[in-house]
Amino acid sequence: MESAVARTAARPRIALATYRPEEGTASADRDLPVLKGALDDAGARAEIVYWDDPAADWADFDLVVIRSTWDYSWRVAEFVAWAERVAKLTRLANPAAVVRWNTDKRYLGELAASGVPTVPTRYLAPGDPADLPDGHEYVVKPTSGAGARLAARYRPEERETALRHLARMHEKGLTAMVQPYLRGVDTAGERALQFFGGRFLHAARKGAVLAPGTAYDADKVPHPRLEVWQPAPAELAVAERALAAVPDGPDGDALLYARVDVVDGDDGQPCVMELELVEPNLFLRLHPESVPVVAEAIIRAAR
Ligand SMILES: Nc1ncnc2c1ncn2[C@@H]1O[C@H](COP(=O)(O)OP(=O)(O)OP(=O)(O)O)[C@@H](O)[C@H]1O
Ligand SMILES: [Mg+2]
Repeated sequence: MESAVARTAARPRIALATYRPEEGTASADRDLPVLKGALDDAGARAEIVYWDDPAADWADFDLVVIRSTWDYSWRVAEFVAWAERVAKLTRLANPAAVVRWNTDKRYLGELAASGVPTVPTRYLAPGDPADLPDGHEYVVKPTSGAGARLAARYRPEERETALRHLARMHEKGLTAMVQPYLRGVDTAGERALQFFGGRFLHAARKGAVLAPGTAYDADKVPHPRLEVWQPAPAELAVAERALAAVPDGPDGDALLYARVDVVDGDDGQPCVMELELVEPNLFLRLHPESVPVVAEAIIRAAR
């Protein structure tokens, strides 16, 4: 019988963990089949697996890569528990401790405390007084969001609507984030800098997501006018500072992948809006040249 060691050396088995699309709909992760193909071509055996598939045998893989588990923000506790369970059975990327830390956007406050330029953020947990800004436009959104779900922007005179939004989040047990609406996003857009295998991979830019007057519970277009982007040195520097401030997990495992979203602050300088270390959309269709780089880094992590 082939030993596990020999098998690993020969063809690492890699699970690409994704979400289960609703009955009759296609997956929104268009990169997934491309990535599986590239991994298979590069000598691995890759399999696309639903993260919440009770029949999945995670121990059977050399590496489980969290790719597009895009339904997790509805069920964060279940997802973090899953990551911790899988990490006991095999190697998980990113590591479970990183997943736990990054699924709660209070990490932005930690980044700010370590001196990383970030979007100024206040947190309002259930039970906290509804202290909303008065003199400027602002954003209210949850600490566990994706796809701009439950996010909206308000002018000071829209306080009643913002209070209803806040109450609705607090009823669900969600903590709200309150940030100034950064106008830089309307002009310079939001830039997503992707890192893979410890190096800068590629970047993309998208337009503003929160149109004025859009209801918090409306579906938003998450990546409007997405295009290839060459980051300026200042953007790269902020992204690298953010990554350097990520707390080391207990096993000190490095990050396999990371996406840092930056926008221009009111001083015109880039600041971090989001650090995505769980399931970043890699936008490989914009960057076909990155496909073999990503496949190679995944295979290296599996060996
Ligand atoms: N303070 C802000 N100023 C301006 N625009 C904002 C602000 N906060 C959020 N937005 C807009 O809302 C979008 C979604 O916000 P954010 O990225 O924080 O949440 P998300 O739900 O994690 O979204 P996604 O998963 O799509 O990245 C941003 O891409 C941006 O266009
Ligand atoms: Mg975002």
